Amino acid sequence: MCRRKKGKTVTEQKLRSHEWFGNRDVLGFTHRSWIKNQGHPDQMFDGRPVIGICNTWSDLTPCNAHFRILAEMVKRGVYEAGGYPLEFPVMSLGEVLMRPTTMLYRNLASMDVEETIRANPLDGVVLLTGCDKTTPSTVMGACSVDIPTIVLPGGPMLNGKYRGRDIGSGTSVWEFTDDLRSGKISMEDYMEAESCMSRSDGHCMTMGTASTMACMVEALGLTLPGGAAIPAADSRRRRLAHLTGNRIVQMVKEDLRPSQILTRANFENAIMVNAAVGGSSNFVVHLLAIAGRVGVELALDDFDRLGSHLPLLVNLMPSGQFLMEDFYYAGGVPVVVQELAELLHLEALTVTGKSIGENTAGAPCYGRDVIAPFEQPIKRNAGLAVLYGNLCEDGAIIKPSAATPDLMEHRGRAVVFEDIDDYHARIDDPNLDVDASCVLVLKQVGPKGYPGMPEVGNFGLPAKLLKQGVTDMVRISDGRMSGTAYGTVVLHVAPESAIGGALALVQNGDMIELDVDGRRLHLDVPAAELARRRAAWRPRPAHTERGYVSLFLEHVQQANLGADFDFLVGKSGAAVAHGNH
Ligand code: FES
Repeated sequence: MCRRKKGKTVTEQKLRSHEWFGNRDVLGFTHRSWIKNQGHPDQMFDGRPVIGICNTWSDLTPCNAHFRILAEMVKRGVYEAGGYPLEFPVMSLGEVLMRPTTMLYRNLASMDVEETIRANPLDGVVLLTGCDKTTPSTVMGACSVDIPTIVLPGGPMLNGKYRGRDIGSGTSVWEFTDDLRSGKISMEDYMEAESCMSRSDGHCMTMGTASTMACMVEALGLTLPGGAAIPAADSRRRRLAHLTGNRIVQMVKEDLRPSQILTRANFENAIMVNAAVGGSSNFVVHLLAIAGRVGVELALDDFDRLGSHLPLLVNLMPSGQFLMEDFYYAGGVPVVVQELAELLHLEALTVTGKSIGENTAGAPCYGRDVIAPFEQPIKRNAGLAVLYGNLCEDGAIIKPSAATPDLMEHRGRAVVFEDIDDYHARIDDPNLDVDASCVLVLKQVGPKGYPGMPEVGNFGLPAKLLKQGVTDMVRISDGRMSGTAYGTVVLHVAPESAIGGALALVQNGDMIELDVDGRRLHLDVPAAELARRRAAWRPRPAHTERGYVSLFLEHVQQANLGADFDFLVGKSGAAVAHGNH
């Protein structure tokens, strides 16, 4: 017996799982009998909500390696609330080990999640998310099914600690690596640092992509309040898992689905919160892809229009100084929501059944050096900027908060790398014709070019310039950048070079103009010369003609559309035409 939303009378609600477990025939016998081999008693099949726990655990995904413990805590909560939890594995995308890039597999993992949820007797689902792509892939998949869904982020690692100072995942790796290449530190120092950085369960503890994604789902209203920042090692993360298990059972009874929660208002909130937390540039492709699944119109320009003028409030690496553990102690996302209260859609619905405004009302801040007040921000106008011009007709992005102010308006001579192998072969060549005023251009790292749009957009500077003390240069590519990275890097150039975007036509010595305030990226080459180059341009042969990669190459969309597969946009719902045979 379930009380449904909006004051409807108590009614017998036939759950989706009833189609499997409620039948008194050969199929019902089969469905119940085999799963009873795990010791489940008869009352598990009495019509109670069946809750899937979608687990991205894997030893190969270190950031999610603690998820089997979290899943047990979710189960406790589900049982306590009268549900029946069933945990299932899905493809796990571990950022640090998978080659050539996890982004090649985000859409594949989303298909795994979507089809597994739809094909099984689930009434609601808890998504266990952590390492970068495990959040968008699971959310995308679940949205395309649209049964009640709640996200449980796995939480960040504790702060890295190295010789008396805090060091951050990724961000400090880039610093240590540059210091090693320029001779500032020894290999022994470098090796010691790697042990000091990752010292607990959890994902990258900078405001990299994993933390950004956790903040994104909280701002979208898909997690319990405060869910993004609790460290993985903190017992309150397990408590959150228990409460998430409680809540999903109620969500099933309320039939509260992603399509009801994820309105345009929630996406606009996420864009604004992302600007204020200094979130990863990867946020753009993932949010666009999720919006596509739920049918919310969202465009690249929305990120600039809604976010670029907003101040940076959260002082976390790579844009700032602190780490996620500090963010949690300071109050986390609820404080940011309250600081942005006059701008956000506070009425936007969340998984609690309440609005995000109700969820965060009165959230106290315990660390103003970590979360600044709106009137006294860390930086002004810090959200992502979207650039256009003859070099990126469908757009490109730059993260000003991670860039060098003096380079935001710049004209320089192009030094071109035709692909990542060309870059590796020549970047440290002492004879490379380059100086600090040049613009480094990297081709063939877009969705189809690499393939998979890897995080190489913050490609390192020439060693000879590093030794001269150069710390940043303008860099342009059709790839992405790690959320933990920094620099004056133009990313996600669309259309990409592999399909003949203007980036493919850039040659050494061309002059390129970047004007972030003017939102312009211009290749200063006469139109007639560009037309001549275009006529002579030929695409490279396909990477492969078989398997998943061939599917990817055929169907992946450009970065300005979220790089989802064209045939995955939208949702198919939870219905299945036939029983299992
Ligand atoms: Fe997993 Fe950074 S490597 S979150």
